[in-house]
Amino acid sequence: MRPRWISKVVEALDLPKNKGKIVYQVATVDSHNIPHVRSHVHRGFIIPKSAPNLPLLVTSSDVRAPKVTQMLSNSSVEVCWWMEGSMDQFRISGKATVIPSPDNALKDVLSGVSRAAIALDEGGEIDREDGTDGRTLNKYDWEKKRKEVFQAMSPGLKASWCAPKTPGSRMASYDEANEWRTELGNLDELKTDEERRDYEIALSNFAMIIIEPTEVDWTQLGEQPNRRTLFTRKDEANGSFWVEDILVP
Ligand SMILES: Cc1cc2nc3c(=O)[nH]c(=O)nc-3n(C[C@H](O)[C@H](O)[C@H](O)COP(=O)(O)O)c2cc1C
Repeated sequence: MRPRWISKVVEALDLPKNKGKIVYQVATVDSHNIPHVRSHVHRGFIIPKSAPNLPLLVTSSDVRAPKVTQMLSNSSVEVCWWMEGSMDQFRISGKATVIPSPDNALKDVLSGVSRAAIALDEGGEIDREDGTDGRTLNKYDWEKKRKEVFQAMSPGLKASWCAPKTPGSRMASYDEANEWRTELGNLDELKTDEERRDYEIALSNFAMIIIEPTEVDWTQLGEQPNRRTLFTRKDEANGSFWVEDILVP
């Protein structure tokens, strides 16, 4: 069964008054124990068929970004998702896994082993648009998923991943970026060799980020008196389950 917290997130997201509330903040800690936080666009959930109680959050980044280095040195992250319309806050703690291009050297430092990842290998993913379970040769196909998420991106975002400079590096002036590509279509829309080359560069810099929640703290400011519920994941030898506690808001 899916945990109650994810039903609440999906319910809140479906409300017309929360329309477009797909941006959350993701906090990381760097190798000097300094915290960093920034906005991310939620790109959906991955729900393992054989363990729907272990949903994953999907977001993305440029593999060259500082946040990726931080997630690799410390995979603990916290997401803070404020849904203004319904006045719900979901604070989701968990472990981040960066899924880079298979030709990126970082692929070798992925821990990769999590209960959800094992469940995805065993039974694949629920509710996929292509009707498959997302597996190739009985293993969950992370590269196929990474490409799907990349293809769904806007032309402007696709172009951002082929920028010649590393995110966060210094520029001589704002004008430097005027020379850079602003749009990149899907593979079947590319016309020139230059576009095809830039598409390959963008795809190789594109990283999918998966967050596996271990604790969800839900605050409902839309309720009077306000409500707060903590969902904690417990892992046991025969499976994982979620414990629910009511907290003082
Ligand atoms: C509304 C909004 C959504 C954003 N979504 C993303 C995202 O999904 N992925 C991402 O890498 N950066 C996203 N950004 C940019 C980041 O917040 C951040 O400024 C940038 O990636 C640099 O982060 P870093 O230095 O911590 O790597 C978004 C920014 C805004 C304002």
